[in-house]
Amino acid sequence: AAKTVLVVGGAGYIGAHICKALAARGDRPVVFDNLSSGHRHAVKWGPLVEGDVRSRADLDSAFSQYAPDAVMHFAAFIEVGIGEQRPLDFWDNNVGGVITLLQAMKCAGNDKLVFSSTCATYGEPERLPLTEAEPQTPVSVYGRTKLAVEQMLRDVSRGEGLRYAALRYFNAAGASPDGEIGEEHDPETHLIPNALRAAAGLGGRMKLFGEDYDTPDGTCIRDYVHVMDLADAHLAALDRLFEVEGGLACNLGTGNGFSVREILDAVETVTGQRVPHDVHPRRPGDAERLLADTTLAREVLGFAPQRSDPQTIIADAWRFHAPRWGV
Ligand code: UFG
Repeated sequence: AAKTVLVVGGAGYIGAHICKALAARGDRPVVFDNLSSGHRHAVKWGPLVEGDVRSRADLDSAFSQYAPDAVMHFAAFIEVGIGEQRPLDFWDNNVGGVITLLQAMKCAGNDKLVFSSTCATYGEPERLPLTEAEPQTPVSVYGRTKLAVEQMLRDVSRGEGLRYAALRYFNAAGASPDGEIGEEHDPETHLIPNALRAAAGLGGRMKLFGEDYDTPDGTCIRDYVHVMDLADAHLAALDRLFEVEGGLACNLGTGNGFSVREILDAVETVTGQRVPHDVHPRRPGDAERLLADTTLAREVLGFAPQRSDPQTIIADAWRFHAPRWGV
């Protein structure tokens, strides 16, 4: 049966792609977003409720108007550097916002939540690839707020019967293959959009942060996962909430690592342009390598990435950006 899903933060990058995937299979996304970093033009598959996740009144009115069957949360602050400067805002929005959301859900009789978590909850890994059982010792305010929510969800699930899935994304990237929506952060800090912008001749030379890591080419290695593959995993996690009690914490990556230089090479291949760049010192807080063990995602969510090779990710991102940048 079609489900109505309250997508908190549904005007942002990942939330909007999940809304598109929900609608494509006949579910009904209702976006709840304060548009602080999301975009009104990315809300295309259902209503937009303008509200703040920290406001109980805003949430209560959304629950009473739409009576959602389940909730998804994508409304966190994500910029690692800003978290170090404004920790109180991060704890207020990323943790306080989820407390308020859980209270509103409880009051509305809603017990199903899919939550955006992150590989940043692991910190600097001791062993690779990272399984869900690795110790979680985040090294940023951002990572600590996400871990705090995971711990809260576990408690609320045990004590009050909340059903949840905390999905620990590795490096989300790419765009809807039809070019309809894509990644529009401001300021943009992520590698692939920054490399594409430099390839397009916009925004000057890209900064490559650190070439002295203990990796084959000296640059950091990451596990990039296409946003539409993430969307498939969210649909599977949502369905699971209707079948299984309790909570799930699950990595979402591919298990394949690519260095910054390998990504720049792929950007040059896809765009046919050079990526002008300069090597800068390491960016504080960057782990040398992050790689997901994907066993659990495969077993529990049937996760089988279709578009997560760098060429496809970059081609899809380029198809979104190029016309908007006039190239
Ligand atoms: N990088 C550059 N130049 C840039 C941008 C990035 O060299 O302009 C490098 C980074 O130093 C890093 C790699 O490219 O080595 C990937 O950086 P991203 O910013 O694209 O991604 P991160 O791995 O830093 O971030 C991801 C998620 C975050 C999460 C973080 C936790 O996108 O939300 O992992 O480590 F917080």
